[in-house]
Parts: sequence; C-alpha cells; structure tokens
Amino acid sequence: MKINIVSLFTGMFETPFSDSIIKRAREKGLVEMSMHDIRDCTTDRHRTVDDTPYGGGAGMVMMPEPLVQTVESIEREKKSISILMTPQGEPFSQKIAHELVDFDQLLLICGRYEGIDERAREIIADREISIGDYVLSGGEIPAMVLVDAVVRLIPGVLGNDQSIEHESFEEGLLECPQYTRPEVFRGKRVPPVLLSGNHAEIEAWRRREALKRTRVRRPDLLKDLPLTERDEG
Ligand code: ADE
Repeated sequence: MKINIVSLFTGMFETPFSDSIIKRAREKGLVEMSMHDIRDCTTDRHRTVDDTPYGGGAGMVMMPEPLVQTVESIEREKKSISILMTPQGEPFSQKIAHELVDFDQLLLICGRYEGIDERAREIIADREISIGDYVLSGGEIPAMVLVDAVVRLIPGVLGNDQSIEHESFEEGLLECPQYTRPEVFRGKRVPPVLLSGNHAEIEAWRRREALKRTRVRRPDLLKDLPLTERDEG
C-alpha cells in the first residue's frame, strides 16, 4: 500500500512512522510512505499558503491553489482514495479502517488553521474523516491515527494474524480482560477458568466478560450487535 501525506508540517511524521509496527511494515515493503509539503507548491517569495476569510472573521483559511496543486502532483494508483482529515468528517471507526485497507493508495490531506477553501475541499477530497468530536490544531495527528489503525490490518504486518480477531471492536465488543504471569499479583488471582485448559469454557468466559465490559462501558455498541441465545442467558 502507498500512503501519501499532504501537510504543512511533514516533519511531524518522522518519529511516529519510524518506530514499532509502522517501521516494521515499511521495512518489509508492505507500506510505502511519502510526505508532500504544501509549501513546495507556492509561487511567491514568502511561500504563502493561507489568507484571511472572505466575509471577514477570525483566523486564516488555507488557499486553494497550493493545496490542490500538491494533491494533483501526486501520481495515483488504480485503487486510490483521497481523504481530508477534518473535524467535520464522518467519525473514524474500526469498520472504516477495514474499508481503507482494501485500497492500494491512501492520500491523506491534513488541514491547518481555520480550515481549507471550500472549492479545494470539493476538488480534492473523495472522503472526509474525523477522529472525534474535538478540534485539534491540524489534521496531522488524525492522519497518524488513521495510518496506524489501517497499517496494522494489512496482512503480514502483525506477526500473528489471529491477534486482530479478538481485539476491541472487531466483534462489535470491547475486548475481555487479559492476564499473564504471575498467577497471583498483590493478592489478586487470575480467574481459575483461564488455568483450566478447557478451551470451550475459556472461550465462553471470554465472550461473557467481553459482553459484561461492553454493557458497562459502551452500551451504545450493543445496539447493533446480533446477540446469540447463549449471550442472552
Ligand atoms: N483536524 C482538527 N481536528 C480534527 C479531528 N478531530 N479529526 C480530524 N481532523 C481534525
């Protein structure tokens, strides 16, 4: 998968994309990342990228010309999608991460300042995504969030493909509690069923605990979940 990032602050991506899972994915050749600085498409001496809003008001708006030029200078793969990171976009989710992993190319556009010129938005964005109902200083951190969530779903990126299956949200539920050694820590015991070696019982316990946790912490997730007879009991 190719990932192209359009931003005014391309340096922000250096560390997050040079460590851990994303680093490994790049080294294995499973993802190829490139950054595109919008200022490289300016034509004036000051490399201007923003201007005051028509109609007045506070703040600055990103000008359409350098932004659209930057996006249009990027070579597109056959199965490619451009995504504008904006608090006005659709809320990001594990479901959207799964949709995006099917593309050969993600072109992520990071806005800054009070927003981007509406005409540029119409021209360059196939989809608009928000990472939550709060306003960050720009789309860079949201783009990192999206990249992390998508890259770890690319087959071969995680060592063990099973590790995705039971994660939070994959089955519409939060994940069940996890334990490792020691068996007793500060007087707290690992639930005995996990030591029983009875795989059917362990599975049933995990499902029950995942449901319990979801019911308490995120009851909204249960609305859309088809519960089995066993779950209802
Ligand atoms: N840019 C600023 N805030 C954002 C958010 N919450 N999601 C996506 N992009 C943003």
